[in-house]
Amino acid sequence: MRVIVTETFAQACEIAAGVIADVVRKKPDARLGLATGSTAQGVYPYLVEAYREGKVDFSRVNTVNLDEYVGLAADHPQSYRRFMDENLFDRINIDKTRTVVAKGTGDLEANIREFRLSLGQKPIDVQLLGIGVDGHVGFNEPGRVLCDGAHVEKLDQSTIDANARFFSSREEVPTQAISMGMGDILRARKLLLLATGESKAEAIKGLLLNETLDAQNPATLIKTHPDVTVILDKALAKSVGYVY
Ligand code: F6R
Repeated sequence: MRVIVTETFAQACEIAAGVIADVVRKKPDARLGLATGSTAQGVYPYLVEAYREGKVDFSRVNTVNLDEYVGLAADHPQSYRRFMDENLFDRINIDKTRTVVAKGTGDLEANIREFRLSLGQKPIDVQLLGIGVDGHVGFNEPGRVLCDGAHVEKLDQSTIDANARFFSSREEVPTQAISMGMGDILRARKLLLLATGESKAEAIKGLLLNETLDAQNPATLIKTHPDVTVILDKALAKSVGYVY
């Protein structure tokens, strides 16, 4: 596991975007695994900037997102489809028919079948990950067992609480999401986990300060991956006592 500690969160985002842009430059029809949330949101402006400066071409790229809330239609202001359109897809030259975000409404079983089919079609070349306060990646919440493939996940209270900031009230936060499974994430060729903020300290400790794999902290499973880069800012590294 490669760990990069940056002075600022903005630098962490710029490095993450650079890694993704490099993957696309080397492989113009790459499949990018993308994430939403405030951490990932910091990365996309750098990709948009690289595109505007002619440094990267997304015309042959295809993407798949980690997750989508159950119950939110694609055009809901807080849906992850809308997040992706607004933060990235509508700002670059990607063919949106090649972007996959699971559908959160309608026949969920059919949506999961479709999502699984899509995940099986083409390997992910690089998967961007944030981390939840409880160590979730995608929406794989802590538990006795973790799922291999795409599934519906019941969100933990800590996740609902953390995501309430995006909604006008806690009651509006969906309680379930469709998520890639841990296996789907670990099958990506390259993993890029980005973290900032003291609320992530406990989860990051489990990832960086010991060698155990803990289903109660799903992010720890990425230690088994042969190509993983963790990027965090100095403030978070210091708060967990990570020596770099
Ligand atoms: C989002 C996702 C989640 C977030 C995590 C951190 O697609 O899969 O795992 O990465 O909840 O969210 P932020 O970055 O908002 O703290």
